[in-house]
Amino acid sequence: MAHKNMVSLGDFRPSDHWQTHINSIFYGIKGPEIHNHFQTYVSLDYRLAHALANNFYVRARSQQRPQSDKWLVQEWGVGNGNLAACFLSRLREIDRDDEVYPYIYYVLCDESEEILKGVKSNSRLMEHTGKFSTVRVNAENLDCFRLHSVAKIITNEIWDDLATKVLLKHQGLYYEEYLCPFMDSEALPEDSQAFLEQFKKKDLEKLAMLPNFLDAIHWERDFQRVDLDDWPFAETLKTHAEEFKDEIPMPINTGAFLAIKKARELLGPVNFGYTSFDYGMKTMQDLNQEGRPYFNLYGGQYTFMVNFPLLENIGQSLGFTKIIREYQNQFVKKDLGSEVVSLVDLVQHHPHIPNMAPWDRDILMLSTLNALNTVYRSPYSGKLNYPALEGTPKKQRKQIALLTKNLSSRGVPDTVAYVTHDEVIAALKPLRKLGYREKDIQSAFQSPPSAVSFVHTQFSS
Ligand SMILES: C[S@@+](CC[C@H](N)C(=O)[O-])C[C@H]1O[C@@H](n2cnc3c(N)ncnc32)[C@H](O)[C@@H]1O
Repeated sequence: MAHKNMVSLGDFRPSDHWQTHINSIFYGIKGPEIHNHFQTYVSLDYRLAHALANNFYVRARSQQRPQSDKWLVQEWGVGNGNLAACFLSRLREIDRDDEVYPYIYYVLCDESEEILKGVKSNSRLMEHTGKFSTVRVNAENLDCFRLHSVAKIITNEIWDDLATKVLLKHQGLYYEEYLCPFMDSEALPEDSQAFLEQFKKKDLEKLAMLPNFLDAIHWERDFQRVDLDDWPFAETLKTHAEEFKDEIPMPINTGAFLAIKKARELLGPVNFGYTSFDYGMKTMQDLNQEGRPYFNLYGGQYTFMVNFPLLENIGQSLGFTKIIREYQNQFVKKDLGSEVVSLVDLVQHHPHIPNMAPWDRDILMLSTLNALNTVYRSPYSGKLNYPALEGTPKKQRKQIALLTKNLSSRGVPDTVAYVTHDEVIAALKPLRKLGYREKDIQSAFQSPPSAVSFVHTQFSS
């Protein structure tokens, strides 16, 4: 129950209603600042984008070039535009005989005007002026494009933002999660009546002028009986839900259903499929694991984990005949021909990490970056920004500033960037000095995936 000082910002509604409401406010008022709240595997790193470009190049070369139009590549939910920039740059680099790059055109689609404003000033993307454009559109309602006109569709971490319902099975009956946003009366902006109205109407201009309020929202939950016959793709969903263990909240990503359906309609006769990278449960066993999370909040943004087995079933029911579902690092590994690990996972395997203060972890992360940078060379130039956390003592703050200053502009581009086994082994000497043992490094590369992981899905026919 909500505390008595809590003021409700609306009524109890199915979770997809409030999740999409709050996310359009989050993206609408923050723009590229979103990456202060979370990182993604493409916002600074280039390795996923390059793997996609390599794959696209090989497949496109074996096809006849488009006669009049170009091969249209669309990305839905584009963040800062780095994925598009690195995809295009890689394609231009490997296409020495001008067989593919001159014939493609990249369309960056996003619902948020602020996000698209940021994309237009992305300097890496500017190098490809004339090869891309932006379209403001909701990925759950992409009716503005010509059917069968697109050659490739890409999304990274958008399914988890799109409408998601939550289903719970209990003794053969199904219940749906309802949410209601509350805020402590003391945290409400001064003119609370005006705020409640602006919040309800998603008045982005006015809401953007207020001090940050998204973090102060408290979500109450409730479950109500539901009949699955009323849900989209009811037959596929009912068969899937039969396998649910009782009492475990299962995300049902209905917004992703629509995105996959639209991808099927938009992909043309010659196409290279719909590729998605996202975060969630890869297998039925993961879905049925007790206690695993099913949603997350980042600076107010509300994301749901993705139910990958169900989305594969939806893809099949829509007529996609070849569907790949694999861990994301497998996809990168195949491209690079070497095992890969995200840098943050490597640091998590340092023997002292469990007992370290947060600022000492930052120092270890920065020292690990500097150690790897002795052997790593990024094809792009850019210096990582690494501000000290609030509460960091003065001495450690100074150390963090110095380590950050020493980072190479051609070094590992992000704390979540992928590094290969070969790169880590080449930097073994400086890593050992930081306290890593060879067995820590091996276990970082061999650790079993968790019930909630990053997954690559590809739909083709
Ligand atoms: C988690 S961010 C990921 C951004 C980028 N793909 C990346 O991985 O760095 C989600 C992106 O999807 C956009 N987005 C969220 N909901 C959307 C919707 N319904 N339609 C179109 N774009 C949406 C947001 O504005 C944001 O750019």
